[in-house]
Amino acid sequence: MTTFTASHQISIPSFIYGTAWKKELTARLVQAAVTAGFRAIDTANQPVHYNEPAVGEALRALNAEGIGREKLFLQTKFTPVHGQDHRIPYDASADLTAQVSQSFDRSLAHLGTEYVDSYLLHGPYSQRGLRAEDWEVWAALEGVYQSGRAKLIGISNVNAGQLAQLCERAAVKPMAVQNRCYASLGWDRDVRTVCREQGIVYEGFSLLTANQEILDHPAVLATANRLGTGPLQVIFRFAQQLGILPLTGTTNERHMREDLQIDRIELSEEEVSAIEGIGEE
Ligand SMILES: NC(=O)c1ccc[n+]([C@@H]2O[C@H](COP(=O)([O-])OP(=O)(O)OC[C@H]3O[C@@H](n4cnc5c(N)ncnc54)[C@H](OP(=O)(O)O)[C@@H]3O)[C@@H](O)[C@H]2O)c1
Repeated sequence: MTTFTASHQISIPSFIYGTAWKKELTARLVQAAVTAGFRAIDTANQPVHYNEPAVGEALRALNAEGIGREKLFLQTKFTPVHGQDHRIPYDASADLTAQVSQSFDRSLAHLGTEYVDSYLLHGPYSQRGLRAEDWEVWAALEGVYQSGRAKLIGISNVNAGQLAQLCERAAVKPMAVQNRCYASLGWDRDVRTVCREQGIVYEGFSLLTANQEILDHPAVLATANRLGTGPLQVIFRFAQQLGILPLTGTTNERHMREDLQIDRIELSEEEVSAIEGIGEE
């Protein structure tokens, strides 16, 4: 378990199960993931990529099996209108504060819960800097946090400059970041640096899919060989040791168990630095 300490102490499981792109298999796969041992679930109120109501369906079934809401870490997101398809889960003509409020209320209804553990802004409104829209939406997220219905708030798909700006000017600083993590960018080094300085939890996604070219790198293979495991497990464990909270979106129950077994392996400091530097060779 990673222990997060900011305004209050929150424990976050050390691996997150991501539910994007599962469509009609979402409920079955979330149940399988929790049964395999995952205790953190990531979703979004964004029908084009996620099936949030089906996550709720899985949670009801798990509750009936004795795995209650309090045993799980639930994370969902507010997705701005440019990230939605025609199934916008709020009134897009309403002001942004109302959009967040409607989207959040629907997330709670979909998930059958009175609170989420983490609520993220899916991404800023532009790739450069923060605009008036970002500040208005962030203020709405702060309101959700202050109401106690999200235990922490954060932002996804953010660059280091935007994150630093948000930390500097926000009334409630982001407590979690969720980004795609490329080895070629030092595993998102600039953003991770801001996170470390500000005490923000850094969640990394696409650790495997964005880094296919390094899976057979000699440093990864030598580490896998020494530890008697596979290269994918090395990457996930490397990420954890570097301070990255990994997500996996596997659809395979054997892979779920393999992914969770990484807590049995430990890379040396030299192995961590060798893999950290791979993309910059
Ligand atoms: N904030 C955002 O904008 C954003 C964007 C993208 C994703 N996400 C989140 O991140 C989650 C994960 O996305 P992702 O891109 O990291 O994962 P992903 O695209 O679902 O990819 C995971 C890949 O790794 C494979 N895999 C995992 N464990 C394996 C194992 N032990 N052996 C072999 N193959 C294995 C999976 O194949 P199998 O299915 O065959 O195991 C799958 O092809 C998403 O579900 C979503 O929750 C967020």
